[in-house]
Amino acid sequence: MTPTSKYEDLSPEEFRRLGYEVIDWIADYLEDVRSRPVLPDVKPGELVDKLPASPPEHGSDIEDIFDDFRRIILPHVTHWNHPRFMAYFSISASAPGILAEALIAALNTNGMVWKSNPAGTELEEVTLGWIREWLGLPSHYFGMIHDTASTSTMHAIAAARCWIDPGVRFTGGSRGLTLYTSQEAHSSVEKGAIAIGIGQDNVRKVPVDSDYRMCPKRLREMIRQDRDAGKTPFCVVPTVGTTSTTSIDPVPAIADIAEQERLWMHVDAAYGGAAAVVPELKHLLEGCERADSIVMNPHKWFFTPLDLSAFYTRHPQILRDAFALIPEYLRTQTDPRAVNYMDYGVPLGRRFRALKLWFVLRYFGREGIAAIIRNHIMWAGEFAELVRRSENFELTAPVTLSLVCFRYRGTDEQNQQLLEEINRSGMAFLSSTTVNGRFMIRLAIGNLRTTRDDVMAVWDLIRTSAARMFA
Ligand SMILES: Cc1ncc(COP(=O)(O)O)c(C=O)c1O
Repeated sequence: MTPTSKYEDLSPEEFRRLGYEVIDWIADYLEDVRSRPVLPDVKPGELVDKLPASPPEHGSDIEDIFDDFRRIILPHVTHWNHPRFMAYFSISASAPGILAEALIAALNTNGMVWKSNPAGTELEEVTLGWIREWLGLPSHYFGMIHDTASTSTMHAIAAARCWIDPGVRFTGGSRGLTLYTSQEAHSSVEKGAIAIGIGQDNVRKVPVDSDYRMCPKRLREMIRQDRDAGKTPFCVVPTVGTTSTTSIDPVPAIADIAEQERLWMHVDAAYGGAAAVVPELKHLLEGCERADSIVMNPHKWFFTPLDLSAFYTRHPQILRDAFALIPEYLRTQTDPRAVNYMDYGVPLGRRFRALKLWFVLRYFGREGIAAIIRNHIMWAGEFAELVRRSENFELTAPVTLSLVCFRYRGTDEQNQQLLEEINRSGMAFLSSTTVNGRFMIRLAIGNLRTTRDDVMAVWDLIRTSAARMFA
């Protein structure tokens, strides 16, 4: 179609027409996503080459844009909502969350201060209060939403620094501060330290035991050595559900050390924290009630569309001390019940993320979310049992939640070839990791639409592919 000039938004009639079409498309997509290859068969740069090199001078018809989305963009998409997406941490957007995303965009509020979106601010307090209760965290913990766990953790480290050195926001510099996390911690901990100027060299990687959990004894020794060397230990970050193998650090023992050594304890429960909604798994967060701060990601295992990370701290005042800066143009009247979230972190503009969380939490309820998570964990256990019983495969890490780490009893190269073969098939998408120099394949179950049959089918695919390739 010839480009036309567009000086106005879509008319309500046009919006309605395409809106119905988009919703129909989404409903079909969610119903049929299984028939698509999980990973697109594309090469880097292919999409760029398909698109015009110069920007659009004139507007296009919305139907043409939507058509190009389906024809040109979609073939390059990796389908995270596919039930056999079992790579990284498998996540999914539930339909209530998808609908809420449309409403969020329609309202397009910016919750910088209470007044700029009272509903956003108060719904954030309410929904984070619900999750806090479900996870068994103390009721006085202050909660706020960030985009990602990486941002949450960066704020935790900044608060920890402000706690140990309140003047640092004025003077800058980190003055020999050292932070401790395990060798298996997510890279976001180190990146948070880099971002706020602690320095990567001052992040100490505490060794792990044979089950990949932080060794408290080694933590204590490293703190002592650093103090002897004139450093100032200030923060420790244990993980509940590490990325490579979902190991769970001994948080109660680490909390003892943090209290004795005066360290801020931030718990990274980005993935694993969600499992504590299952009553028999409450113990996973044991010791977290002593944390100075903690993060868990509803966008990981709570079926909330990306992005939404829940961050809690028992010291909101320290967070404010670290970040509050109120320019004249944003000054509002003070009311103790009006939270101005901009005072507690770097971002000023804040999406109405709480709305999608509210939709998702209300739709499923705790019971619904717990039932799905319980199934995921059960199927991971069944998959692990098949691996255990197989002659040609072995487990490479304890299965603590819904992730199974395993390998073919062969060379690293064979394992890599097997992984590539499975992913190339489009039938499933798995990822890998290397721990202690050992390559392993990761199968992560976390998608709302995954069934037990999917898990069994993926096992058959792995088993038969290996038999064919290495017979
Ligand atoms: C344990 C853990 N922490 C933090 C993160 C970072 O999460 P985000 O992508 O929300 O920054 C991940 C990501 O997978 C993770 O597994």
